[in-house]
Formats: sequence, C-alpha cells, structure tokens
Amino acid sequence: MKNATYHHRSGLCRLGLILGLAAIAPLAHAVQVQPAPTDPDSPIRLSSNENAFGFSPAAKRAMLENIDAGSYYNRNNITDLINQISRRENVPANHILTTAGSGPVLMMTALAYAEPGKNAVTTAMGYTQLTRRFELQGGEIKYAPLGPDMGYDFDALAALIDENTVLVYICNPNNPTGTLADPRALRRFILSVPPRVLVFVDEAYLEISDTPFETNTMAPLVRLRPNVLISRTFSKCFGMAGFRIGYAVANPAILEKISPYHMGAPTYLSAIAAREALLDTQFMEYSKRHYQEVRNYVKAEFDKMGIQYADPQGAFVFFRPGNGLSGDALRDAMAQHGILISGSRESGVEPGSFADWARVSLGNMDEMKAFIAALNEILKS
Ligand SMILES: Cc1ncc(COP(=O)(O)O)c(C=O)c1O
Repeated sequence: MKNATYHHRSGLCRLGLILGLAAIAPLAHAVQVQPAPTDPDSPIRLSSNENAFGFSPAAKRAMLENIDAGSYYNRNNITDLINQISRRENVPANHILTTAGSGPVLMMTALAYAEPGKNAVTTAMGYTQLTRRFELQGGEIKYAPLGPDMGYDFDALAALIDENTVLVYICNPNNPTGTLADPRALRRFILSVPPRVLVFVDEAYLEISDTPFETNTMAPLVRLRPNVLISRTFSKCFGMAGFRIGYAVANPAILEKISPYHMGAPTYLSAIAAREALLDTQFMEYSKRHYQEVRNYVKAEFDKMGIQYADPQGAFVFFRPGNGLSGDALRDAMAQHGILISGSRESGVEPGSFADWARVSLGNMDEMKAFIAALNEILKS
C-alpha cells in the first residue's frame, strides 16, 4: 500500500476562514500518512484488530522530535496528555487515569472488584480480558444471553444484578460480535443500575462505528453518575497499538479504588504522541473512512456469497462461513493461504453454539481482497 494523503488545513487557512475569505481556494498542505508496514514474506495478520492505515503523522513527528528525551522518566508530558484528554471528555483532570493501553484498565478493575462471593454481570459472547481476570480472582461471571441480531438484551442484564453484584461490563461495540448498542437503551440501562454497582463501558472501537461517536459514547454519564467508568484506547482508530496508550474516565473515588493495581503510565514518547494524536482530528476522519470502506467491501462480498454476519461496527467482522465449516477449520485453512484470522470464540454460551463462526479483522483493501479470494477458494473446495 502506497503512502496515503489527506489534507490538513494550515493555521493560515483557518485564519482565512475566520476572516470570511472562504471564497478564496483554501490553503491546504498534503500530509503523508505512512500505512502500517507489511512484510510480503509473513502471513497477512487479520486476527488482532490492528489498524492497517497508519497513525497520525503529527504524533510521529512529535515522537521523533523528542526521541532524545527517552532517557527520562515521565515529566509534565503525562499531565499535558491528561489535560488534553480531560478537554476531549469534558471532565476534570482528576477523572482521568492513563495506562499502557486500555487492557490494564480492564485488569485493574477486575483485580480491585473481584472476590469470592461477588459477581460481575456481562453479555455472552463478549470480550474476556476483564471477565477472565475477575474469575481468576475468585469472582463469578453471570452472563446474559445475546439479544436479537446478536445485540444486547438489557432486560436480561438487569435481571441478573443481585446483592452480590459488584460490576457490570459492557463492551460497545462488542468484541467479537461487533454489534453496537442502541444509545438510548444503553443509557436507560446504565441509569437503572444501583449506584453501588460499577458500570464499566469499554469503548475501544467506538470511534470506528458508523453512527457519530458523540451519539454513542456514554462518557457524559460519568458526570451524572459516580458509578460509571469508560475505558478508551489509542490502539484502534488512532492506530497506535504498539505505543500502548489507554485511559479510564471515571469518578475519582473509582480511580482511587483501582489505582493500587496500576502497573505504569504510557511511556514518555507515547504520552507526547497521544497528545498530538488527540489534536489531529483529520487523521481520525481518515482512519474511520478507511475502516468504513473496507468494512463495506467485506459486507458486500459476504452478501454476494450468502455469508451470514453480525452487523460489524468495530475493526472486525464476525461471520459464519457456512458449508458446514467450523470457525477453527476455516482459521486453519486460511493459515494455509497465508492469512491469519480468529476461529471460534465462545464465552457464556453452551460450548459449540458458535463453533461455526469466525472473526476476521479489517486490514487494508489489498489484504481484504486476498482474504475474500481465499475464502472463495476454501468454500469451493
Ligand atoms: C474490546 C477491547 N477492549 C480492550 C482491548 C485492549 O486493547 P489495548 O490494551 O491495546 O487498549 C481490546 C484489544 O483488542 C479490545 O478488543
């Protein structure tokens, strides 16, 4: 994939617009985005939900400019990042905790809340990083069945909450199904949860979904409810998985409860890069546009092939190859074609219920074309 270009309005251009000179052709300079490197001798990796489209050139520039500061521990750069995040989330800075990716927020929460006799409520077929750790710490996981179209059944979730429930975990869009909650129903559900129960909303993929982020994010509820935590990551739409940056948005009392399990902030350079990435809204638009393009391509191909799939709103598609092929058999056959995908993933369901489903991450267009060609071949054989 060649370097991709998007247009970045210069400060001068903005000034021009402010002065009402919109009739003059906008001054814009092309910004080169370096797509994630691919190695023709390695398999195409469509199993880890990584961003194939690169990351903000402004973030890259900032890291290169500050590379010599790698000798130091973090200084004001974490505070600068937190201040920028607090502007994005519209909460005071003491409502933000930065971590090395958002995975640590999930783990810290499980460690802080789980204990024998306590339970966490979640949806079947969800992301298991928090729930697995919660169980390992002696807690119990109570699973609500999936709703229609593999969505959320909020009545079923609410019915599972009992006096021993300490937290509810919602991943939105969900992984591996990719489905997105109706924001009104999710908001209503969150507001109905007893205040003593933490509601954890993992919004790792939310920037990539089709409908506007602002409509779907539950972050505004943090200001209304002291029992809501939102986790976010720079690994997905921002394309910075390898730099390990994530954060929690929550009331300071919750952050205090999970903080004893904090294993470290993002690195010096990651914090600098993340701050720049937050300011580079054009990269985010570019990234989302590319995700939508490849997602629509895969959906159209699946439709042509008669393949069933859940409505994908994240960086992957959950699908049923058909032809009696199990997800694991497809994963193995794909590996023979040099393409890595995820086979069957099940949680909170009867073993085997989703054995004939698989998950493919969204790579770049060339990679998705190779995936579709291999799938056609495998299904014919
Ligand atoms: C739903 C969800 N939450 C959290 C994470 C953690 O990612 P990271 O630690 O890179 O932020 C992932 C990673 O794939 C994910 O799928």
